[in-house]
Order: sequence, then structure tokens, then C-alpha cells
Amino acid sequence: MKNILITGGAGFIGSHVVRLFCTKYPDYKIYNLDKLTYAGNLENLKDVEELANYKFIKGDICDLELMRQIFADYKIDGVIHLAAESHVDRSIKDPFAFAMANVMGTLSLLQAAKEAWAGTMEGKRFHHVSTDEVYGSLHNEEEFFLETTPYDPQSPYSASKASSDHFVRAFGNTYGLPFVLTNCSNNYGPNQFPEKLIPLFINNIRNGKPLPVYGKGENVRDWLYVVDHARAIDTIFHDAKNGETYNVGGFNEWKNIDLIKVMIKTADRILGNPEGYSDKLITYVQDRAGHDLRYAIDATKLNKELGWEPSLQFEEGIEKTIRWYLDNEEWMNNITSGEYEKYYLEMYNNK
Ligand code: NAD
Ligand code: DAU
Repeated sequence: MKNILITGGAGFIGSHVVRLFCTKYPDYKIYNLDKLTYAGNLENLKDVEELANYKFIKGDICDLELMRQIFADYKIDGVIHLAAESHVDRSIKDPFAFAMANVMGTLSLLQAAKEAWAGTMEGKRFHHVSTDEVYGSLHNEEEFFLETTPYDPQSPYSASKASSDHFVRAFGNTYGLPFVLTNCSNNYGPNQFPEKLIPLFINNIRNGKPLPVYGKGENVRDWLYVVDHARAIDTIFHDAKNGETYNVGGFNEWKNIDLIKVMIKTADRILGNPEGYSDKLITYVQDRAGHDLRYAIDATKLNKELGWEPSLQFEEGIEKTIRWYLDNEEWMNNITSGEYEKYYLEMYNNK
């Protein structure tokens, strides 16, 4: 029996990790700790909430006393840490919120783990889920991010994630905390909050609303299906050596505008619109401040050492994803109502 604390489990990636662990490891007890910010949605976990090995705890990772209590009460011996503020545009508007959640929150979790595991670190593990954005931006087509690429974060979001990565390694080096760290590329799939490119654009195509393309749409992102990221976390959490870092990605780069055209074509086909019908929605808007040009992950180390590879080709993954958002209009309406809607309207009106 293992007691695993998953933070941010009500969010996009976290909910897929919780589902995988609850169903694949019935002997583990899974504690999902989430503050339920605008991005946290327990509807994402409806199918697992009745499982005997699952428990939800509402709480803030910045609350050190609560973290200490959780480690003591539930005898936590593994942490998979995903809770974070995750949207680059929001970090540009409010960097303090990102420093608080991503840096201070990670630090309080590390401190609680270090104290709780002081007797023995044997069999314990802190898995920190991070991003490829810590490496900064690539400026030519030949380069890829390797685990050895120097950190060069360019946005308040990536600076906060880089800082949290440094704290994790510092706790490993200074206190012997057993950790593993993963830096993943852009995820796509069901349950992503519709402020991010793919769900936002699918929803706008359905509603005939403008598709706000930042700059010329020439920035490149490297997309991985979210379930494959969850599978990679499972593999690394169980099989990696302490202190190791793995890049996670599927060698699947897309220029934003090309990806947007694929989304339009696929959504129009599914919706029964004539080909090219939603092209008119493409609206070029002011670029994101400090917009990183290109991300591309080299995940060879993960493949060679631990045998992980993506299970889904992009064509299949994007079709599945578009169908999911079109079929789950109620999920979309529920999550876009309330506080977030005001924020989105304000952001959108400024574009
Ligand atoms: P998300 O925004 O969908 O979910 C984040 C979750 O964390 C939400 O449920 C939210 O309620 C919770 N949370 C935020 N602040 C909290 C706090 N102070 N205490 C407790 N819970 C809190 O994010 P996501 O896209 O699922 O990303 C999850 C993690 O993976 C993040 O750490 C992110 O940096 C990392 N990551 C994301 C991607 C991606 O493409 N989305 C890629 C690589 C890495
Ligand atoms: O690379 C991993 C990162 O991917 C994660 O760490 C972040 O948490 C996650 O949000 C994601 O960051 P991006 O900034 O790459 O994702 P986003 O969906 O916001 O934007 C993807 C690309 O699309 C980016 O180049 C900006 C562009 N874009 C985005 C939005 C929301 C637009 O052109 N228009 C938009 O309206």
C-alpha cells in the first residue's frame, strides 16, 4: 500500500494523472489536493470520485501547516506535484500570483515532505511536474531542448516554474530529498481550461466567434496528448532513479497557424459545415508580450532509459480532442461561466 499525494488533481493534466493512478493501482491510496482555483474542476473526476482508493482534499499548497497535517494524517510516501498557476497570459497580468502558487507553494510542499520524511527517505519520492518553458525559446529549426539545456525562462510563468525546479533540486542536494523532475511540452486533450489555444479555438469555432491568433501565428509548439503525459509520469514516478530529470514530448511540432487550420478543417467536417467555412474567423491580434518563438523537446533519454513512447499519433489525438469538446458542451458552459467569464471578456476585449 502506498499513500500518494497528487496536487492540482482537479486541473487538466492532474485529473488524467489521478484517473490513471486510481484505476491502475487499486492498492494505492490517492489523495488529490487542490485549491479549486478557476482552473480546478471536480467535474473532471466524476468517474473516479466513488472509488474506494480516492480522496479529495480542498486546500492551498501555500498553507504549510495544512501540508504538514496532510503528510502526518495520511502517512504520505509519494508526491506528484502538479498544482500551479499555468497560463502564460495570466502571468503577464499578475506575476505575483505565479510566484506565490508556483514558488512558495512548491517550497511549502518540499518543506512538509522533508520534515515528514526526516526519519527515513527510503521508499519516498517527490515528483515535480514542470514545463519545457524553463529552457526559454529556440531560434533555429535544428535545436531541441535536452535535459542539459541551460535554463533561460522568458515569461513570469516560466520564471516561476524554473524557480520551483531549482528549489526541488536544492532540497535534493541539501537535505537528501528523493526527487524526480519532468519537463514536458504542450499538452492537449479533454478537460483543458478553455483559455488555452486548443479548447478556446474549438469552442469559438462552434460558436462562430473570432479566433485570436497572436502575432503572425508563426510560433511553434510541440504537442503531446495528455494521457501520454500521464503515462510518462507513471513510468518516471515508478522507474526513474532519484535525482533524475526527464524531458517529455512526442516530437510533434506545429506552427500555430498550421495547427489552427487543422482544427478548423476537422471541426467544420464534424459540425457538417462546408470546407473552409470557419476560415473567416481567423483574426490576427496583437502578439503576446515576450512570446517565445519555438519549443521542441528531445525525449530520447526517456525513451532509451525507461522505454516510454507516445501511444497516440497526432492526427488521431486531435480528432479525438475536437470531438470531445464538441460533444461536451455542458462541461464547456459550466467551466466558462462565473468568475472566469468576466476575466476572459476583459482579456478578449483588449485584443
Ligand atoms: P491547470 O491550470 O489546468 O490546473 C492547475 C490545478 O492546480 C488546478 O486544479 C488548480 O485549482 C490547482 N491549483 C492552483 N493553485 C493551487 C494552490 N495554490 N494550491 C492547490 N491547488 C492549486 O494546469 P495544467 O495545465 O493541468 O498543468 C499542471 C501542471 O503541469 C502545472 O504545474 C504546469 O506547469 C505543468 N505543465 C503543464 C503543461 C500544459 O501544456 N498544460 C505542460 C507542461 C507542464
Ligand atoms: O510548453 C508547455 C506549456 O504549454 C505549459 O507549461 C503551459 O502551462 C501551457 O499553458 C502551455 O503554454 P503556451 O503558452 O504554449 O500555451 P497556450 O495554449 O496559451 O498557447 C499556445 C500557443 O498559441 C502560443 O504560441 C500562444 C498562441 N495563442 C494562444 C492563445 C490562448 C494564440 O495565438 N492565441 C490565443 O488566444
